[in-house]
Amino acid sequence: MNRRKFIKNSALTGAGLAVGNSLISCEEKASKTNETSATITESNSKANLPLVIATWHVKEATAKAMGILQAGGNALDAVEQGCRIEEANEKGQSVGKGGLPDRDGNVTLDACIMDKHGNCGSVVYLQNITHAVSVARKVMEDTPHVMLAGEGAKQFAISSGFEPEDLLTEASKNAWKKWKVEAKYKPIINIENHDTIGMLAIDKNGDLSGACTTSGLAYKMGGRVGDSPIIGSGLFVDNEIGACVATGLGEEVLKTVGSFLVVELMRQGKSPQQACEEAILRIVNKPNSNFKDFQVGYIAVNKQGETGSYAIHQWFSMTKFQDGVNEQIQSNFYNKV
Ligand code: GLY
Repeated sequence: MNRRKFIKNSALTGAGLAVGNSLISCEEKASKTNETSATITESNSKANLPLVIATWHVKEATAKAMGILQAGGNALDAVEQGCRIEEANEKGQSVGKGGLPDRDGNVTLDACIMDKHGNCGSVVYLQNITHAVSVARKVMEDTPHVMLAGEGAKQFAISSGFEPEDLLTEASKNAWKKWKVEAKYKPIINIENHDTIGMLAIDKNGDLSGACTTSGLAYKMGGRVGDSPIIGSGLFVDNEIGACVATGLGEEVLKTVGSFLVVELMRQGKSPQQACEEAILRIVNKPNSNFKDFQVGYIAVNKQGETGSYAIHQWFSMTKFQDGVNEQIQSNFYNKV
């Protein structure tokens, strides 16, 4: 199932992208941490460089990134250009133009980017600019700062040559109006469909970069910012070790500083697959975790070009382009009940 189908199906069933309907209906708590860990299938692969991986089913985006890498371009350009494909895709309602708005009808974007030197740039609560990832890159390269927010980020983007535009499409406006019929001010996780596009690449020189971009939770409270623009939570790159990017319910990723955790676990010797799994277990094994109500997924790559992905629930996938093959790989997941 691709991510759009999953969004559609989830919306139809009243469940969010955060968790499939069949998973919500499971009453029995998954209490099989050890068993689940033991049955995990490793999805590592040795690398032939360059390679690119991305969250969800985004073959057009990974193809764009790989084109740059194969032409001798660097990983930073590859991840930026790859993410821009999804930002411009108005049919995708979780990223860039066409993203679902907050509960007041405003489309607000979060994005960040990180290069092989550990430089990073980020924008939060950015409005009216489609290519948030490119604004984040400008913040990294043209300012003394790491993060710009809201109106300041927008004014910086405009002064850097980005054209302001209305990001709320008819489809997203209609979906928002439908949501408003029964909207409650308190977030209701099961109707907040969302996913983030995160991309990691290694270029032919063996250097890593990463980026991620999102419109965040649909119908979020005004001013809400998730994990995606927060360096260490939504994304982390350490050119000596590896990189990780997250998707899913940002609040849960933020609470565990997920992407930094995955990279640090790889530093300690874990494979990308093992590191993603342990980071997910940190979330689901919290006392009173309500993990059945939300999704989190990680993808990671290490310096050797081994990759991994893992999620709480089924239907998370990674797109991987390596050795001439651009493929969607279903992620292993925790909640097998
Ligand atoms: N992971 C995207 C968000 O929660 O906003």
